[in-house]
Amino acid sequence: MTKKYFALYILVAVFTFLACKEHSPQIPYSPTPYDLHYPDFVTTFTNAPVIPTDNPTTIQGVTLGRQLFYEKMLSNDMTMNCGSCHKQANSFDDARQFSQGTNGTFGSRNAMAIINPAWGDRFFWDGRRSSLEGQAHDPVTNPIEMANKWPVVMQRLQQSNAYPELFFQAFGTRIIDSNLIVKAIAQFERTLISFNSRYDQYIYLHGNTLTPDEADGYELFQVFHCTGCHTYGLFTDGSFRNNGLDLLPSDSGLAKFTHKAVDYGKFKVPTLRNIAQTAPYMHDGRFATLEDVVNFYNKSVNQSSPNLDTTMQHFTAANAMTTTQKAHIVAFLKTLTDSNFIMAAAYAQP
Ligand code: HEC
Ligand code: HEC
Repeated sequence: MTKKYFALYILVAVFTFLACKEHSPQIPYSPTPYDLHYPDFVTTFTNAPVIPTDNPTTIQGVTLGRQLFYEKMLSNDMTMNCGSCHKQANSFDDARQFSQGTNGTFGSRNAMAIINPAWGDRFFWDGRRSSLEGQAHDPVTNPIEMANKWPVVMQRLQQSNAYPELFFQAFGTRIIDSNLIVKAIAQFERTLISFNSRYDQYIYLHGNTLTPDEADGYELFQVFHCTGCHTYGLFTDGSFRNNGLDLLPSDSGLAKFTHKAVDYGKFKVPTLRNIAQTAPYMHDGRFATLEDVVNFYNKSVNQSSPNLDTTMQHFTAANAMTTTQKAHIVAFLKTLTDSNFIMAAAYAQP
C-alpha cells in the first residue's frame, strides 16, 4: 500500500468509526426497575398498586413515557400532547370545563386529574377502560381529542432521531408500535404519586399543623358522610356511584359502558386529592368552586334520582350544614393540596 492510499484508508476507517458511533451508541439493553415509592401509611388504607406483569415499571420506560406524554407528534396536526389537557399545575387536569380537541371540537365531559392512577383499575368517568395502557390508546385516535391514526404516530416516531434508541433502552427493540407507546405512557403515569399534602403531613407524617378551622373540617368530612365514597388514603374508593346531581342525568355514565339500567347515572368517584387545583368540578365541570360543590351536597341532592347511592339518603334538609360548617369543609379540602406533586421536576415537560 502506498503512503497516499494508507492515509486515505486511515481516514475512511476513522470516519466509519465515528459515524457508527453516532448512529448506534453502545449502551446495551438493560432496563433498571423503577421503585414506585410512597409512604407506609398508604398501605393501611389500600393495597400496593398492581403492576401488569407484561409491563414492569423501569427507569428507561418511565423516561420514554414522560417524553411521549408531552409529545405533540401524537396529535394529527402536531399541536397537542397529553399535557395539553392534563396540566401538571392543575394536578394533570384541565382548567377548562370542556377540553378542545385539535379539530376545534369540544366533548361533553370535564377532563380528569391523573393522581395516583397506579391504584386504579377502571378509567374514565364511565369506567370503560380497565388499564392505563388501554386508556392511553383512546385520546390519540379520539376525533374530539388528538384525532390521529396510530400508523401515522408510529411512522413519525420511527423516523425521528431520538425515539428508536429510547424504545430500545426501554423495551429492547427499535421497532416502534402502538402497544409499546401506550406501555411507556402508562409507566410514566404510574409514577404520578401524591401523598404529601399538609393533611398527610399532619395526620400521618406528624410534620405540620392544621388550623382549628381545617381540623374541624376534617371531622365534619366524616360527620357528613363524605368518607362513605371519598375514603381516606386515596380519597376515592374507586367505585361508580350516583351522588344525585340530576333528577334525570343526561349523561348515562357507567351505563354507557355496561348497558345496564342499574348503572344509569353512576360516575367514577373522583379522588379529592389536590382538589383545589382541579376546578371545575364533576363529570361535566358544572361547578366552578368548592363552595359550589359543598352547597350542592348540602341542599341540592336529588333524592329521586334513579340509582341514587344509599349513602346519599343522609343528604337531606334535616341534616343541613351551617355556613361555618360548610366553610370548614372547604378549608379542609384545601389541605389536600400536595405542592410537591404540582411542582415536581420529574413530572414536568422534559
Ligand atoms: C383534548 C383533551 C385531552 C387530551 C389531549 C388527553 N386527554 Fe385524557 N382525558 C380527557 C377527558 C375529557 C377525559 C375524561 C373523558 C371521559 O370520561 O369520557 C380524560 C380522561 C383521562 C384519564 C382517566 C383518568 C381516570 O381517573 O379515570 C387518563 C388516565 C387520561 N385521560 C390520560 C391521557 C393520556 C395518557 C393522554 C395522551 C395520550 C390524554 N389523556 C390526552 C381529555 C384529554
Ligand atoms: C355516594 C358517594 C359520595 C358521597 C357520600 C360524596 N361524594 Fe363527592 N363525589 C361522588 C361522585 C360519584 C362524584 C362525581 C359525580 C359526577 O361527576 O357525576 C363526586 C364528586 C365530588 C367532587 C368533585 C370532584 C371532581 O374532581 O370533579 C367533590 C369536590 C366532592 N365530590 C366532595 C364531596 C364532599 C365534600 C362530600 C361530603 C359532603 C362528598 N363529596 C360526598 C361521590 C360521593
